[in-house]
Amino acid sequence: MATTPVFVDVDTGLDDALALALLSRTPEVEIVGVGTVAGNVPVGFSTENTLRVLSWCGIEDIPVYRGASRPLVAPYQDAAHVHGGDGLGGAMLPPSSRNIADFAAPDALVRAAREYSGRLVLITLGPLTNIAIALSLYPELTEHIHGVSVMGGAYDVAGNITPVAEFNIYVDPDAANQVFAAPWREIVAVGLDVTHRTILPRRGWEEAAQATEPVAQLARKLLARTFGERDMTGFYLHDPLAAAIALDGSLVKTQKRRVAVVRDGEGRGRTTSTAGGDVAVATKVDAARFVRLFNERLALPHIDDTGAAARPE
Ligand code: BDR
Ligand code: CA
Repeated sequence: MATTPVFVDVDTGLDDALALALLSRTPEVEIVGVGTVAGNVPVGFSTENTLRVLSWCGIEDIPVYRGASRPLVAPYQDAAHVHGGDGLGGAMLPPSSRNIADFAAPDALVRAAREYSGRLVLITLGPLTNIAIALSLYPELTEHIHGVSVMGGAYDVAGNITPVAEFNIYVDPDAANQVFAAPWREIVAVGLDVTHRTILPRRGWEEAAQATEPVAQLARKLLARTFGERDMTGFYLHDPLAAAIALDGSLVKTQKRRVAVVRDGEGRGRTTSTAGGDVAVATKVDAARFVRLFNERLALPHIDDTGAAARPE
């Protein structure tokens, strides 16, 4: 089977970890590299978490490249309140025996884009700092990449870190502005408009208590704090949705818009959009199909639970 080469940029993070697990169970994909960035947690943690998650999923051969430790201009802010101080909800995954690769993440992305020119798919699940640096180093990057899927933004809905901003865009609004303005062949923006519709219900997690598959056990461990201590009813599948859409665009409906990001002040991180640009903004999602796919791939029981939307995180 012909596989799609994919480079993933992450700030692992609970839902980043689930997205990596999903990709590890997607045979149509060949992950050729993973870059890390400061986001949910500082980059040292997001890098260590990425190594641990990949090793847990049995992936020892995909290089992990450490990336930017802070946004381009804005002061750095983490999301430890959601992901826990370690970024993995205190899951205590065993350490990986692997080391990080030699190159920095932006450099590695440029190299991968050249090597898989015209075929590489880029999935970004954290602040866009590494991608902006890669574009600065090598503006031709856009010509080499087949398509980009960005988890970020709140287009026609409220934000999640401020009333108007989604977290990934808020953390590095300058980088986001540069990435949305670049002349990609194809770029899809997967924001809260759609990710807030894709919710993993707590009951699915509860009923997976006896799961034996490592990816299902990973989900159990990662979400123990969310569904236990924090008593949430559901968990937003932000990053897994952006990963899935990179491979199957039919999961969403999009509108072509021009996207700009407010860079500072009260509106910091707000994504403003007007009709007619080149960014495909996801406005509708087949949530039922996606959540079913996610559960199948992660060997989790599929539960239809409308109550999950009562208090999700
Ligand atoms: C995004 O922010 C992070 O906290 C999540 O990992 C996701 O990438 C959702 O706003
Ligand atoms: Ca993320």
